[in-house]
Amino acid sequence: MAKPKLLITRKLPPAIEARAARDYDATFNASDVVRDGATLAEAAKGHDAVLCAAGDPMGAATINALPASVKAIATFSVGYDHVDVAAAKARGIIVANTPDVLTDATAEIAMLLVMACMRRAGEGERMVRAHAWAGWAPTQLMGLSVTGKKLGIFGMGRIGRRLADFARGFDMEIHYRDVAALPADLAKGATFHATDDSFLAAIDVLSLNAPGGEATRKWLNAERLAKLRKGAVVVNSGRGTVVDDAALCDALRSGHVAYAGLDVYDGEPRIFPGYHALPNVVLLPHLGSATIETRDAMGHRALDNLDAVFASQKPRDQVN
Ligand code: DGY
Repeated sequence: MAKPKLLITRKLPPAIEARAARDYDATFNASDVVRDGATLAEAAKGHDAVLCAAGDPMGAATINALPASVKAIATFSVGYDHVDVAAAKARGIIVANTPDVLTDATAEIAMLLVMACMRRAGEGERMVRAHAWAGWAPTQLMGLSVTGKKLGIFGMGRIGRRLADFARGFDMEIHYRDVAALPADLAKGATFHATDDSFLAAIDVLSLNAPGGEATRKWLNAERLAKLRKGAVVVNSGRGTVVDDAALCDALRSGHVAYAGLDVYDGEPRIFPGYHALPNVVLLPHLGSATIETRDAMGHRALDNLDAVFASQKPRDQVN
């Protein structure tokens, strides 16, 4: 039997491309060029499935332009806010993501942002790199102790809960905001807040770990920022769309928010211009899942999902 034809939209780790080449008639993207939706749909002609990635514009227009031969879209990401799952469903196209395997890596980046902000690692690194360090000084780059602070997690899913595990290692007190309280075995003593007001007033550090999409768009706006304690810290390793960037920049400029650490951006790779000039921001290029082990695991998970589709089984991670 002929191998299914698979369009792989981005350059993937070598082990994943090798497996795809073994099991599929795969079209690769060796130069890793990022394509617009119309170009992706055109490239999908003659293919049975698409393996896409976070950032690919798989909205309704792209999905509706895909050839009828496409049966499945596997995204190399846990987030699938870039894929219009309803449009795919309407066309009978299966969509699957890669949950679980990037939980630890993404929680590590969230913790790294907390540490880098509070201990001013970004400013210190920039100072040393610019040959501007004149030596140790008693009052130089004094940050905030992480140990014992109150961490508020907005979105207590897999990644939020793993971040809580890491933060407990720093004796942080965990608070969380989500649609409902977790069962005790998952909450592990974390305090659930049923309202934004009580949540935001209770914490020293806010970590955004909620999915993107309309329900969370610009959730962290000027009104909610004002409800944080003066001198609070904000980190975002979830989705950039959750933040109102102009409002966060204002809060960073006034000092109401002391530091922010961002790994994700609304409209990335474009970054809201206000951030560049602010010394109290740590900016990372969407590194959440970027470990060798994790990216391999994501690729295998995406291919497992496609294998299931072509074996006429329901993929483990189908989302529509
Ligand atoms: C995801 O998987 O959704 C990440 O943002 C990409 O690493």
